[in-house]
Amino acid sequence: MLLADKPSDIPQGDALLDAIERLRKERNAVILAHYYQESEIQDLADFIGDSLQLAKAARDTEADVIVFCGVHFMAETAKILNPDRIVVLPDLEAGCSLADSCPADELAAWKADHPDHLVVSYINCTAATKALSDIICTSSNAVRVLESLPEDKPVLFAPDRNLGSWVQRQTGREMDLWQGTCIVHETFSEQKLLDLKQQHPKAKVIAHPECEPHILAYADHIGSTSSLLRYTQESGFDSFIVATEAGILHQMQKKSPDVELIPLPGMDDSCNCNECPFMRLNTLEKLYLCLRDLQPRIELPERQRVAALKPLERMMALG
Ligand code: 13P
Ligand code: SF4
Repeated sequence: MLLADKPSDIPQGDALLDAIERLRKERNAVILAHYYQESEIQDLADFIGDSLQLAKAARDTEADVIVFCGVHFMAETAKILNPDRIVVLPDLEAGCSLADSCPADELAAWKADHPDHLVVSYINCTAATKALSDIICTSSNAVRVLESLPEDKPVLFAPDRNLGSWVQRQTGREMDLWQGTCIVHETFSEQKLLDLKQQHPKAKVIAHPECEPHILAYADHIGSTSSLLRYTQESGFDSFIVATEAGILHQMQKKSPDVELIPLPGMDDSCNCNECPFMRLNTLEKLYLCLRDLQPRIELPERQRVAALKPLERMMALG
């Protein structure tokens, strides 16, 4: 919110939704939302998706303005892929613990210590870190990306050690792993998972690969947010214990109103630890303000953008 904005300057209720609708048309804007956004943001988005789907939607849009309802690295990716658009993020503080764990200078030092290695970076990293990478992956294509690399080349994988070790188990390929984690997915409680499995013996456990290996060991299905959503729609089962950020439950329930969805809680009962505090910084009010003011914008030095584009395009070329 701009300092000058009193809460009374911001329309409320239906007037807020009407104002967003009017501004979306006036600005020729597209609203992209990740599955972890608040339900009310998902409900008015033009497109909802996982990080790969959103990157493709951002690359392909012809709208003048991309309102990215997600976190900073996602909006940055949109700007890298489609630099002629204005890209706004409702709250510039919407970061990511994985991106924060891997500053570009530290990755550069790691690379310098391993000059023969290829660098595969999870899309959850900054543009500066992407610019130092050979190829990017997301949770939906990480296995395919690894399988596309020459077998004789050693690999550094950053920044998510849990996604990295899951990919190692899937592909049998040894990699050196950066030790980053997602503050949401590392918090799930094994004991609570066991209790829930006992209470709901027919429920299938579905988990995002950012979860710790001891949680993934119980999973009937592991995949990106879009893959987990598809599984709840297509697997034929009717009860699921969901080990990922709780925002995804909204689309799961919308698409399959009759399935039972049981969110896995975090270890700490005193917080909603299965909600990403960064994702949840975006609100309808901030969405309205960024459409009105076309701020805060994502801007990147052109050299860095072009360097970060290369590994993203290598990933995109894999289909
Ligand atoms: P996906 O969108 O690839 O499933 O990743 C989830 C996530 O944590 C994004 O920050
Ligand atoms: Fe980052 Fe985890 Fe939040 Fe995704 S859920 S944006 S990985 S902190």
